[in-house]
Amino acid sequence: MSRIAYVNGRYLPLAQASVNVEDRGYQFSDGVYEVCEVRGGRLVDERRHIERLRRSLSELRIAMPMSDAALGVVLRETVRRNKVRWGIVYLQVNRGVAHRDHAFPPAGTSPSVVVTARNLDAAGADRMAADGVAVITVPDNRWERVDIKSVSLLPNVLAKQAAREQGAREAWFVDKQGRVTEGSSSNAWIVTRDGKVVTRHADHAILKGITRAVVIDALKEQGLELEERAFTVDEALAAREAFITSASQVVLPVVRIDGKPVGNGAPGLIASALRRDFHRFAEAT
Ligand code: PDD
Repeated sequence: MSRIAYVNGRYLPLAQASVNVEDRGYQFSDGVYEVCEVRGGRLVDERRHIERLRRSLSELRIAMPMSDAALGVVLRETVRRNKVRWGIVYLQVNRGVAHRDHAFPPAGTSPSVVVTARNLDAAGADRMAADGVAVITVPDNRWERVDIKSVSLLPNVLAKQAAREQGAREAWFVDKQGRVTEGSSSNAWIVTRDGKVVTRHADHAILKGITRAVVIDALKEQGLELEERAFTVDEALAAREAFITSASQVVLPVVRIDGKPVGNGAPGLIASALRRDFHRFAEAT
């Protein structure tokens, strides 16, 4: 089946779907994105993803390209045309097309919009979750506004590649004080020996994950103790469990950090339960 992308008002086969070479997303990474899980053909937490998109755009002074309702139609239509049941829909909004100049283009330049969608291997993901994954740690060398979901992801790309080359699934960024900020494409969590669930507080130094927000709701409802604070790599290694969260991976237990086992080296009970129950707490539309 040929895949279809939405590009600036048209649905096109991927091979013909292209953006202008003077698109600022291409030349300056001047754009933002969202990744939304698709489950049984429905969008998971669309409302929160669109809310975060609006915030990222507004921090960069890029106009919202269309109404929330119109965006919802485009996301769904892209999912439908690609026959996605279990997977992701990707949305990117760039500042638009203009002669190359670092400063903003003339007022009225339309933002560009691209949407793609694809199925993911749900059974493979469940197998990975049953085994647990390895992470490595790398210095956090990103800019100071990673709360904005910008497509400028070079440090994340290099960190993820380093993880792959060391047989790990994810790289955790560590700040100058030795504390974990987040993963290259996920939020980072631990469960302490006394059962407290810990994830870094959301400020400008991490992306405030939508999956993170839903997991926080789930923890509260289940009466589990949550601490939103930074934790060190040593604390993670001494923890009972560790896990990562993101729209594409939901909740994934972490069993090794830099080659050393976390807890008893097997997926933790809380992480596994959160993965199993996650969609009871998420919105599907
Ligand atoms: N990544 N932190 C970073 C740096 C991320 O890139 C992501 C998401 C998250 C988790 O956010 P959410 O729960 O809203 O997906 C945290 C997406 C999935 C990606 O880049 O593919």
